[in-house]
Amino acid sequence: MNILIIGSGGREHSLAWAVAQNPKCENLIVAPGNPGIAEIARCVDLDIYNNSQILEFSQNNKVDLVIIGPEGPLANGLSDLLRKGGVTVFGCSKEAAKLESSKKFTKDLCKKIGAPTANFEFFSNAKKAKEYVVRQGVPIVIKLDGLAAGKGVIVAMDQKTAFNAIDNFLDRKETAIQNKILIEEYLEGEEASFFVLSDGKNLLPIGSAQDHKTAYDNDQGPNTGGMGAYSPAPVLTQSIMDLTIESIIKPTIEEMFNRGTPYKGVIFAGLMIKNGIPKLIEYNVRFGDPECQALMIRLGPQVLDLILACCSTKLDKAKINWAKDHSVTIVLANKGYPGNYKNGSKIRFVEELKNDSLNQIFHAGTKIDNSHLIANGGRVLNITARGDNLLEARDRAYKNLEKINWPEGFYRSDIGWRAL
Ligand code: AMP
Ligand code: GLY
Repeated sequence: MNILIIGSGGREHSLAWAVAQNPKCENLIVAPGNPGIAEIARCVDLDIYNNSQILEFSQNNKVDLVIIGPEGPLANGLSDLLRKGGVTVFGCSKEAAKLESSKKFTKDLCKKIGAPTANFEFFSNAKKAKEYVVRQGVPIVIKLDGLAAGKGVIVAMDQKTAFNAIDNFLDRKETAIQNKILIEEYLEGEEASFFVLSDGKNLLPIGSAQDHKTAYDNDQGPNTGGMGAYSPAPVLTQSIMDLTIESIIKPTIEEMFNRGTPYKGVIFAGLMIKNGIPKLIEYNVRFGDPECQALMIRLGPQVLDLILACCSTKLDKAKINWAKDHSVTIVLANKGYPGNYKNGSKIRFVEELKNDSLNQIFHAGTKIDNSHLIANGGRVLNITARGDNLLEARDRAYKNLEKINWPEGFYRSDIGWRAL
């Protein structure tokens, strides 16, 4: 098969690594890719927001399957155009992508199907929003609707922070549309990420993980896209996963099917779990980054068979072969991230690290300049390892990481602490 993966991050590198090992994959292309991906696939410089360019490329290059990594192109209708053009796609439609791109869409849907989630209300008026905060009390959570790349959520522990968030969000241009601020109940508990494949009708859970959102150790510092992850998440026991499917994910997929807009692809539920009850924080319509890296090193080449079963509506016949393994991925980030940072510093000794089924380095924000590997982004490398238990996986990953020489980088030293 000729396979095209869309994206350029650590998530897409790990997908490419897993897919490339499956004998069904004869030719792997990634657009636009990155230097790590370029070692295992052909990278082509396509604009991931130019749907017709990607369709034309797929048709001209006899691409049998397109795997879409990030949410942006999904919300931009890439899978719709490719499907219309006769190309097999792993990735949901533009309408289904509203589960991530519109908090209003998801909250209204949850209400309709009775899925447990934080109580909420939408506002477009600061005065009314603040009155609501006063009525509800703190802590409270203020969110900006729409895709905000992780910058649209303020967990306010006091009223002042909540009021500031309301003023800031309502000042932004994108809030010009009605009802764009979501204020919701603060949920206590333990957070986990749950990944499920849906072919529109059938569901197949594809693993769990826990992310580390803040920049520094002990959950301190600003929120980031994720500083590391491990899989599986111990809090997601079999019974809690079953309950999540029954109370949240299955009714969502059924509702999307009944609306004539079936959900086809991977759905990522961000959950808060307390006293054995999972509540939905949010949906994402893609794999998490860096959660995907931790999942892919565990799943390996079979992931392509699962994706193909998903695309051909045969998930009811698909089965995952799980090893009794654990994985960890540590994000090596550019000093200053998630704020301002400098690109261009040299990263040394990456090529000396092990490269096998237990040890991988997935590239994110890297570039080759004058045959040197340099930093070119906030989150730069994902040091990923697998082991018989979490401790073994973690130690393996940190041992690998310490061999890298990059004084301009930083990482959290406590990935996996909650489960250890
Ligand atoms: P999001 O950008 O929606 O992933 O939210 C960022 C983070 O804010 C989540 O990972 C949670 O840690 C936190 N968060 C979001 N909504 C709530 C909520 N209702 N209660 C408590 N924490 C929340
Ligand atoms: N790591 C969280 C996300 O991908 O949304």
